[in-house]
Amino acid sequence: MEHTDGPLVLGIETSCDETGIGIVRGRTLLADAVASSVEEHARFGGVVPEVASRAHLDAMVPTIERACETAGVALHEVDAISVTHGPGLAGALLVGVAAAKALALGLGKPLYGVNHLASHVAVDQLEHGALPEPCVAMLVSGGHSSLLRVADVTGHDDGIVSMGSTIDDAAGEAFDKVARLLGLPFPGGPHVDRVAREGDSVAIDFPRGLTARKDLERHRFDFSFSGLKTAVARWVETRERSGEPVPVADVAASFQEAVCDVLVRKALDAAASEGIDDLLIGGGVAANSRLRALAESRAETLGIRVRVPRPGLCTDNGAMVAALGAEMVARGRTPSSLDLPADSSLPVTDVLAG
Ligand code: KG4
Ligand code: ZN
Repeated sequence: MEHTDGPLVLGIETSCDETGIGIVRGRTLLADAVASSVEEHARFGGVVPEVASRAHLDAMVPTIERACETAGVALHEVDAISVTHGPGLAGALLVGVAAAKALALGLGKPLYGVNHLASHVAVDQLEHGALPEPCVAMLVSGGHSSLLRVADVTGHDDGIVSMGSTIDDAAGEAFDKVARLLGLPFPGGPHVDRVAREGDSVAIDFPRGLTARKDLERHRFDFSFSGLKTAVARWVETRERSGEPVPVADVAASFQEAVCDVLVRKALDAAASEGIDDLLIGGGVAANSRLRALAESRAETLGIRVRVPRPGLCTDNGAMVAALGAEMVARGRTPSSLDLPADSSLPVTDVLAG
């Protein structure tokens, strides 16, 4: 098939509870099929790894078929396969990596084992075009909260450098835990976001982790959310003990404000410290409406441009993996070996498997 607009790449994502199959041609999204096992985990209040792995195994082939149908392409037409090989749940990653190897071997096409976090950055190209490089990327999800300096999203030549990360809970984890405290369903982020719209964000002054002068010396670009989560728990307990009703919307709005305030403050500080004018926000928490609004309004006054993919591309999906794979092909990176492992604790600086 002729390459009219970049390589045709099929991407596979199975690092957590979403089986995602994306198909892109260059920076154009053709299909983004996602099968989620989130319902199966909801009653446990968190993702159960074994359940997620089995769900990936069930969903893999039907989701591939659905993506091909939507994109109007046959499998033999793809130029390359890309797959998340880390970080994530080990058993869940294994299912995607095994499927990707089988496809690459059967179709005789190159395989790119890519980093899940870098994929959260690369996905923005499908919506807003070529990534400004260098940029600062803030990744906030259920498993990660990191600030990165991205000079080359394929990781070439130390293209991705970590500036800071969470020292305890991830931002999404904090949303999920606070939602649970407030009796909201799992995963909690979207519910807190919704309920907070009815609340007062200055009703309760919750702590802003690692923003005190003494913390900034060692942790200027790091995050901490466990103290905030504990503060919310204490506040709710005190309220319940006194027999007064818990103002759920106010707690949600005040908690959300504390998280977003710290995230935006640190992300803009990171950009300013590097003299970089472009900030990208990705990962599931980037779907948060307050985070998006606050980042945009504060960045504008500093002359910093903010790019945030649409919510559906912020949460885990296969299109992000395909987008990074297409960038690997377009920039002539060497494909991964067919014996590539799954690596549950893959560092963000390792963007492409050897
Ligand atoms: O990127 P993602 O889909 O999976 C991981 O790699 O973790 O992120 C999932 C996380 C969950 O913690 C979920 O509660 C959070 O993203 N999330 C949100 C929103 N939508 C999803 N958090 C806050 N506000 C939202 N609107
Ligand atoms: Zn993710």
